[in-house]
Amino acid sequence: MTLLTSAAGTWQLQRYPVRSHDTLQAWEAADELLHELIIERDDERPLLMNDQWGALLMPFAGLDVASQSDSYVSHCGWRHNLQLNQLPDTLTALAPLDPLPDDRDAVYLKIPKSLSLLEFQLAKLAAELPAGTPIFAAAKSKLITPTVRELFSQYCDQLDVSLIRRKCRTIQAVTRSVALEQERFMSSWDVPEFNLTLHHHAGVFARNQLDIGARFMLDNMPPVGAEKVIDLGCGNGVLGLQYARLSPASHVTFVDESYLAIASTHRNIVSNLPESLVVSDSVKYEFEVDDCLSHQATDSADLILCNPPFHQEHAVTEHIARQMFRDSRRVLRKNGELWVVANRHLPYYQPLKRLFKSVHQVAQNSKFVIFQARG
Ligand SMILES: C[S@@+](CC[C@H](N)C(=O)[O-])C[C@H]1O[C@@H](n2cnc3c(N)ncnc32)[C@H](O)[C@@H]1O
Repeated sequence: MTLLTSAAGTWQLQRYPVRSHDTLQAWEAADELLHELIIERDDERPLLMNDQWGALLMPFAGLDVASQSDSYVSHCGWRHNLQLNQLPDTLTALAPLDPLPDDRDAVYLKIPKSLSLLEFQLAKLAAELPAGTPIFAAAKSKLITPTVRELFSQYCDQLDVSLIRRKCRTIQAVTRSVALEQERFMSSWDVPEFNLTLHHHAGVFARNQLDIGARFMLDNMPPVGAEKVIDLGCGNGVLGLQYARLSPASHVTFVDESYLAIASTHRNIVSNLPESLVVSDSVKYEFEVDDCLSHQATDSADLILCNPPFHQEHAVTEHIARQMFRDSRRVLRKNGELWVVANRHLPYYQPLKRLFKSVHQVAQNSKFVIFQARG
């Protein structure tokens, strides 16, 4: 289950954080197809993109390898798997807005679920790497849609899409020089009933409209006045932003594992809160890339707002929500409250009940419930 054997070698590879009895594997056939291409070349300075747990990194350990992902949890997974295999850590880890090193021999790219993120990444490669840099991409064949091919042909030359093997395809191409218009990759829209304008970088959750779960929470916000508040899994930051507006004396920390979510939230706070509130934004509002609340101190928060994720890329999973609940239990002060909005069909009541003394359903409609957990 954790032994990856491919054309390029054999490694132990785990998902991160490690969970006992995890049924999900840390690599897929598309990674193995890329390994076949990797061993045909002799790259010393590769750039990896969207390598979820380090499958692409393993063959390059010890070299001058750079790896870019929007997911902080993936960054943690890379380091974890290097250590697990006792490999040297020569890795340069990059977030999507970081400049790309311009001396790369080749790019190995796993095609992400989000098309807007794929386009942003291709546009950045085209703008920042020398024209003619080889790109090797792979994904399940069902993801290599005509739109994906079209995106590659906008930013690359010499496109060659493979036949289907093991339900996957690879795409080989070389970068074409195209100037980057970064603002073009930012989407924004208004929520007039709450007088908000929300901005999103590529790939950020609810990029085209307000999530309906988030809307339900906005209609049923907790009472104002909590001193220390955390918006956990903040996405565009809409929940913490609205609470900050209603309760201007509160200190709000925004946490997400996506670098682009945190960058979007920062922009939304600056653009939506009146001048007086942002004067001291470094003190009053904090922005943290984290895996759930792993960096937050025990007994440090009075209120946590959470619209938990139930996907990790293509995998449907409850484990992140459960980790969020456990971390919230540790981080909340005595009498602190966790407010969770969730689709009614998601089984969150029992795990909350096991952790907290009292769990109340404070609101519900035909699709969503809001739980208040404390004690
Ligand atoms: C359902 S979205 C909610 C976004 C926003 N709060 C809203 O209501 O529109 C869940 C968010 O959790 C974030 N997330 C996923 N895994 C996480 C983790 N391990 N730690 C922190 N945030 C995570 C995702 O990036 C996503 O932004």
